[in-house]
Amino acid sequence: MGMRILGWGTALPDKVVTNADLEKTLETSDEWIVERSGIRERRIGDSTTDLAVGAGRAAIGKAGVDPASIDLMILATTTPDQQVPATSAQVHHELQLSGGAFDLNAACSGFVYALVTANALLSTGPKRILVVGAETLSRITDWTDRNTAVLFGDGGGAIVVESVPDEGQLLAWDLGLDAEARHILQADHGGYIKMDGREVFKRAVRVMVDSAKRTLEQAKVRPEEVKLLVPHQANIRIIQSACDRLGIDREKAALVMHRTGNTSSASIPLALVDAIEQGRLEDGDLVLLAGFGAGMTWGTALIRWQA
Ligand code: ACO
Repeated sequence: MGMRILGWGTALPDKVVTNADLEKTLETSDEWIVERSGIRERRIGDSTTDLAVGAGRAAIGKAGVDPASIDLMILATTTPDQQVPATSAQVHHELQLSGGAFDLNAACSGFVYALVTANALLSTGPKRILVVGAETLSRITDWTDRNTAVLFGDGGGAIVVESVPDEGQLLAWDLGLDAEARHILQADHGGYIKMDGREVFKRAVRVMVDSAKRTLEQAKVRPEEVKLLVPHQANIRIIQSACDRLGIDREKAALVMHRTGNTSSASIPLALVDAIEQGRLEDGDLVLLAGFGAGMTWGTALIRWQA
């Protein structure tokens, strides 16, 4: 058994916050933010539920299926709207899905974790699964801290997958965690994100590259055969460095961070959908998803694209 991707969609809040807006309240500059991170603006607002529902509805519409035919939903998020119940309960209700739903928190690797989980669950009963990554990082960002405030944004992205009797589109994956590094990026209940940026940067490149190599090896695919890299959208320099070390052309990376900032679990589906909509993918193309995040988690997955 394997999985087939049926539909995809995204949602972003209306409010745009540019680097120039941040210059008014922080000791920072557009030049510094663009040069050090690649981010030019981010979207702020809505709830995680709103963004998950918006992205989920778009993905179900694109798939052209009845929402009630979706018999499981996995919501990857590190910013749930409340502690109990899981945010997925409200999203499930608003989208009128069937079956179960649960939240999954693997920080910025969440979408890849959710996709691999969905792929595994498809062989145990559910026929169609909605996989969502949605975040409102603006709620846990200290807008007076220039070390973090310039980086984060809100958004959502989703795909619908269904089971197929053959190998399907997910060819190989690698999930991991280095718990020794869990202190370098964290937020307490009711608190704000605190981050050792340099340490995250260093480790991010390493774990993304190592994990991508393991996934490619499993599938017996050479880096140059990858048509599109869809990396977590945290920092353009992390992505470029990972591309160079992997031997994947920088031009093959899908990028949305310049207009979304870092949206954690939402960033990979946002970048994937953007690449699809730009016509960057043809049937048979190999797509490598690569996430890393707090924990420190990582997840890479290789997909053979089939529209
Ligand atoms: N504006 C202007 N100056 C700034 C700003 C700012 N917003 N932030 C920091 N600086 C200053 C620092 O104070 C420092 O000054 P100093 O040299 O006088 O001490 C100088 O700029 C350089 O600071 P560094 O931290 O060395 O800058 P760096 O080049 O490492 O860039 C950044 C910082 C962008 C945070 C980078 O380290 C990074 O992207 N790290 C990874 C972050 C990340 O990926 N986080 C999320 C991963 S998981 C998740 O998504 C939740």
